[in-house]
Amino acid sequence: MKARNLMFCAALATLSLASCTNKEIYKDVEARVDSLLSKMTLDEKLGQMNQLSPWNFDELAEKVRKGEVGSILNYTDPELVNKIQKVAVEESRLGIPLIVARDVIHGYKTIFPIPLGQAATFNPEIVERGARVAALEATSDGIRWTFAPMIDISRDARWGRIAESCGEDPYLTSVMGAAMVKGFQGDSLDNPTSMVACAKHFVAYGAAEGGQDYNSTFVPERTLRNVYLPPFKAAAEAGCATFMTSFNDNDGVPGTANRFVLKDILRDEWKFDGMVVTDWNSAGEMISHGFCTDGKDAAEKSVNAGVDMDMVSETFIKNLKLSVDEGKVSMQAIDNAVRNILRLKFRMGLFEHPYVDVPSVPVKYAETHLQAAKEAAEQSVILMKNDSRTLPFTDKMRTLLVTGPMADAPYEQLGTWIFDGEQEHTQTPLKAIKEMYGDKVNVVYEPGLGYSRDKSLNGIAKAVNAARRADAVVVLVGEEAVLSGEGHSLANLELQGAQRQLVKALAATGKPLVTIVMAGRPLVIAEEAEASDALLYSFHPGTMGGPAIADILFGKVNPSAKTPLTFPRMSGQVPVYYAHNNTGRPAKPDEMLIDDIPVGAGQTSVGGRSFYLDAGAKPLYPFGYGLSYTSFEYSDLKLSSDTFGPEDEITATVELRNAGRYDGTEVVQLYVQDKVGSVTRPVKELKAFRRIFLKAGESTAVSFTLPVSELAFWGYDMRYKVEPGDFKLWVGTNSAEGLSADFAVSVR
Ligand code: GLC
Repeated sequence: MKARNLMFCAALATLSLASCTNKEIYKDVEARVDSLLSKMTLDEKLGQMNQLSPWNFDELAEKVRKGEVGSILNYTDPELVNKIQKVAVEESRLGIPLIVARDVIHGYKTIFPIPLGQAATFNPEIVERGARVAALEATSDGIRWTFAPMIDISRDARWGRIAESCGEDPYLTSVMGAAMVKGFQGDSLDNPTSMVACAKHFVAYGAAEGGQDYNSTFVPERTLRNVYLPPFKAAAEAGCATFMTSFNDNDGVPGTANRFVLKDILRDEWKFDGMVVTDWNSAGEMISHGFCTDGKDAAEKSVNAGVDMDMVSETFIKNLKLSVDEGKVSMQAIDNAVRNILRLKFRMGLFEHPYVDVPSVPVKYAETHLQAAKEAAEQSVILMKNDSRTLPFTDKMRTLLVTGPMADAPYEQLGTWIFDGEQEHTQTPLKAIKEMYGDKVNVVYEPGLGYSRDKSLNGIAKAVNAARRADAVVVLVGEEAVLSGEGHSLANLELQGAQRQLVKALAATGKPLVTIVMAGRPLVIAEEAEASDALLYSFHPGTMGGPAIADILFGKVNPSAKTPLTFPRMSGQVPVYYAHNNTGRPAKPDEMLIDDIPVGAGQTSVGGRSFYLDAGAKPLYPFGYGLSYTSFEYSDLKLSSDTFGPEDEITATVELRNAGRYDGTEVVQLYVQDKVGSVTRPVKELKAFRRIFLKAGESTAVSFTLPVSELAFWGYDMRYKVEPGDFKLWVGTNSAEGLSADFAVSVR
């Protein structure tokens, strides 16, 4: 396993040098772009900058015939795709093919866990595989561009789109985003199964104030550079061919007109030569932002800021000809945008093979795809609690009650951002447990509640009665798919409806209670966790979530997932994340909490440090947390030195032992703290992780090699560098615990 990981890392490193838009193999593209551009009229250039989500084929065909469309989204019928492509190629004056796009976020037909669940695997290889499966299935319908990966750092679980993210950490998100880019795009953009990736939403959309979607963000440049931009830089280095602007205004500037990020950073600093598309009507929305007076103003500000293509607002095609005539947008700006679009089309090989060849053997739901989805789901389910070895179930169990609104919810289990997945293919936990283990155990089913928001208590009594006749209970609660995703923010993160009452009523029977939460975000489940003997957390696991959960419950699979974000104890704690600053008054481990405060307590007798009187300073579960059926012991952390120069590499080695009874995989994590900086630094930051498989009783040495250069950050002078000084390093099982060692970086 270790060797494979290292090989993967090497492959990723090689890729970042070669990248999918390798300059060498595309050298003739520039000549072809220049040649075609020189033949284009201004109208045709503006046509390439126009992306439509069409309703009426004939109306679309007329526009395409006139060269007024460069791309379409939301066509998924390969016959229709070829039909409209034929109009573009054979009936328009220059025959420029369209790029056909769709939101293929975590699977096309075979649905994988939502990205948050994929991040919980801490396994970039399995994430890359999922993206490759999505590309194989989607390109078979003619979709050659997806609007993914979404790599917005998300630290506020009230924000519904946290479901679509890879969580709170820039390093984990960078690794996962790059893996998705590699999986979607494959080895070369001109392969017909390559689906162009799109790094979104550029930038800081996840910092929406109050976790309210589309809300303003206020992220200063230094935090942009240290927290929100790194995953996008990693995606660009992995060869991501397109970027999408974000809806939010950051410090008053909407993402779609933010020249600083779109030009100064993306183009000038990162040398990105791909294509930038707006979000859905995000150009037009700058009018309601109060940033633009009308569509023409919006088009001018977008293009002058560095946007190449307009998604569905039609402000570009309707206004920019006049803007160019007036000199408000230069022809050079138009040519730059069209050059980026044409370059992408040439790199995709669209001029050579514009049509989709529908595979003779259907690829959708292929057995290998379903198996990949099951493996991803298995590695995405987090074991949060397992008192008295409640799990895995043993053959002593005769009758098992399966209950709860998420036990048999094939549509809800797929999660958010599913346009093409089909619930008929979903294997739910109830179905899987019956089919896979029904010969070993008598499975009884009582829904308990009709759906996650169901407030009716009528079904609880039946569930409780059934529990009394069972040897153990599995209750599946959580969120319907619609409660997370775009435009679905929540102010209260506790379980909806009467779910808490159901869990507590089942707990009161005294039967071993396994609670499984299926949701699109980290919910506030402190009371349910307390009431349960075992707790599993499954971020909407997709098509194969049922078989994955069944194999985990019965011990065929040992959980290995870790939390990709921090779980709040109370809704009021968010935003909450591990890589926070220490503040001048950090909380002590044993702060007095609200119920312990004496009546009449003096004003200064309690508090005075950074924590909540009613929630404390600790979350319910920290970042990187997850249990196993076995137990892993860490010992003997050694560093290659205690002092390093800026060009050195730090080698950290730890002894890891599987001290339990089950074979298992541990995600070993390495964190570093820069104790003093020219600006305040996080109390720790994830710098590396690796999945290590050990048989029961086995031990191994786990070594990380961390270049000192990885400790660089944007400091007070806004320069990216490593600052000499004292550091602390941890290697451990999550962000809240581990073996530590101090070291220094000196200026050599
Ligand atoms: C949406 C989303 C974006 C998506 C686009 C196209 O509003 O913000 O992520 O890719 O529209 O569907």
